[in-house]
Amino acid sequence: MPIQFNSNTRTFHLTTSGSSYVFQVGPWGRLVHLGWGPRLTAWGGGTAPRPADRAFSPNPDPNDRTLSLDTLPQEFPTAGGTDFRSPALDLRHADGSKQLELAYSTHRLVPGKPPLSGLPCAYVEIVEEADTLEVDLVDALSKLTVTLSYTAYRDRDVLVRSVRIHNGGQTPVDLRSVQSVSLDFGDRNFHLITLPGAWSRERALERQPLARGFQGAHSRRGASSHQQHPFVALARPGTEERQGEVYGLSLVYSGNFSAQAEVDQFDSTRVQLGINPETFTWRLDPGAAFQAPEVLLVRSSEGLGGMSRTFHQLLGRRLARGPWRDRERPILINNWEATYFDFNAEKLLTLADEASRIGIELFVLDDGWFGHRDNDKSSLGDWVVDRKKLPAGLDDLGSRLLDRGMTFGLWFEPEMVSVDSDLYHAHPDWCLHVNGRTRSESRNQLVLNLGRPDVQEYLVAAVSKVLKEAPISYVKWDMNRHQTEVATDETSHRYILGLYSVMDRITSAFPAVLFESCSGGGGRFDPGILFYMPQAWTSDNTDAVCRLGIQYGTSLIYPPSSMGAHVSAVPNHQVHRSTPLRTRYDVARTGAFGYELDLTKLTSAEKTEMRAQVEEFRRDRALLQFGAFFRLLSPFEGNETAWMSVSEDRCQAVVTFVRVLAQPNAPQTVLKLDGLEAGRSYTIDGWAGCWTGEELMHWGLRLPDLAGDFTSLNLRLRSSDK
Ligand code: DGJ
Repeated sequence: MPIQFNSNTRTFHLTTSGSSYVFQVGPWGRLVHLGWGPRLTAWGGGTAPRPADRAFSPNPDPNDRTLSLDTLPQEFPTAGGTDFRSPALDLRHADGSKQLELAYSTHRLVPGKPPLSGLPCAYVEIVEEADTLEVDLVDALSKLTVTLSYTAYRDRDVLVRSVRIHNGGQTPVDLRSVQSVSLDFGDRNFHLITLPGAWSRERALERQPLARGFQGAHSRRGASSHQQHPFVALARPGTEERQGEVYGLSLVYSGNFSAQAEVDQFDSTRVQLGINPETFTWRLDPGAAFQAPEVLLVRSSEGLGGMSRTFHQLLGRRLARGPWRDRERPILINNWEATYFDFNAEKLLTLADEASRIGIELFVLDDGWFGHRDNDKSSLGDWVVDRKKLPAGLDDLGSRLLDRGMTFGLWFEPEMVSVDSDLYHAHPDWCLHVNGRTRSESRNQLVLNLGRPDVQEYLVAAVSKVLKEAPISYVKWDMNRHQTEVATDETSHRYILGLYSVMDRITSAFPAVLFESCSGGGGRFDPGILFYMPQAWTSDNTDAVCRLGIQYGTSLIYPPSSMGAHVSAVPNHQVHRSTPLRTRYDVARTGAFGYELDLTKLTSAEKTEMRAQVEEFRRDRALLQFGAFFRLLSPFEGNETAWMSVSEDRCQAVVTFVRVLAQPNAPQTVLKLDGLEAGRSYTIDGWAGCWTGEELMHWGLRLPDLAGDFTSLNLRLRSSDK
């Protein structure tokens, strides 16, 4: 049983495959956090916090100076009491006060994992996979009930936490901050890992020792963003890819978030993730409830690699949904970097002819097919085909692609409106705006207020109509600006709830369609969106060298199957670097792979090389997209990057190695592989010899010398054991 309650000590003991998480009903009915660490058979009580009299830490009980919430590790601290650290819940009662005295009331054990209403969430396929504990805490004076939910997966090292607040009182309450998780660690001996970035430089791995005070990541942009990521990990110093202890926390939410670590005066560390309180207020009327998004908690004793593989399995198999979840993703050609807005049916079909000869499976028509959109200044919102470019319409284009043996994919940016559009003229009040104030444009566009039911209805109808009219089997759902002129502090969260509802309705109505999310590349690559769309465009930056860091950082949490990765032209359109076709392919193939360049401009030698790439990719696709992923060399630490994917039975593996700059008279590289079976023998395609798994993993593989800048190597391993 992964969740046990000891009624004598009033202790909850949650176990996952490798960890224990313990808390207790403590003084005044408060939930005291007792620890999260390697799995215990039973919790004996020895590591409970010792009460101590501390100066300036107030005591609710006048007879006991050793008890203060300021020093107790807690499951769900609230504002306004004796705890001066960051609260998980801050609110205002009708009289303007914020005090809460949340005390344990009752708890329930629920088999499996109930879904969260209106929010994306991890799930189980059979109830035996997990158990959920719901603990009700009640504030007697206001009659507010806070329900903390904990799901423990039996065969994964995963806990999931969320919070629901119900107003059982007679007066409204304004929620100011609801953190989905609050975790108190007894010390600060950790490195904080975050994934900050920028457009075209998403999810660069940052690691720094925790310091006293506040640190972390947050977004106020209305989206999870390129700039920060709703994730933090605390790693013990010395933790590396293959060893060490790390705690990873990932918020399943796509809007403004806060992910913060606070180190207090006694070197305790409080970690909290939730909706960003700076841009949030929620009026909770009597009888109403508020559900906060959930947080995925992964602990690993096997380093960052162990943590990532647990996240990959969870996000890939129990967060992403739909028929495409476990299916190999089609090799695509996207016309964006091939044509930008300058195309017509003839040009597209010429590109399609080339693509089908190479063996490409899906043709994606990107931005510019609707309204009169010849540049980024118009037509968002008018989801009607531009007959000047495509006189016979989308249906005709789709059937011509099918004739060529390719399926048809289409780009949308449903959440936006151009001022130069029929939609804006008909409904100028549908965008985010503040009456009488400037409407700031970004990429010449405004944001539709998806919190409005009429906007939601319009979008569901407009996108569905197009999907019904043509044989479309893939949708790229883009979003290219952040929110300004957000009228109230409820607006952004209402927007995200509306977005989830629209995505849910459209993706459920078209289950056969493969949806890929995008936000100017990877600006909303988060677990919330992954619930609706199993893959995302990782970055607008398609340069193979830049992609090493972007894909490496992204892989900290997200599985290769979720990462859109394309081979593009050289010189690269973002950084103007020229890299060999071979390297571009080797980097892009570990993902939802495709091409994004004008194939008509290639030499026949390049096309022959691409045909071979497509053939090879088809052979190894399952392994590359769904195999266990091991990072071997980090682009953030040196000139060489390597990663590999291993099949479930550990008989097959593919290795990718990239050297960025050539070095004169370079030392030979010995690459230590990972994830193989120690006692098994392996051969490498095209290489003479045979290696045992333990040789490859512990002694390493001596790589051949590589000449030139931006060179790569991909190796295919097979077990030679009978
Ligand atoms: C941003 C995306 O990331 C690109 O791939 C492309 O779809 C453009 N938008 C189109 O406007």
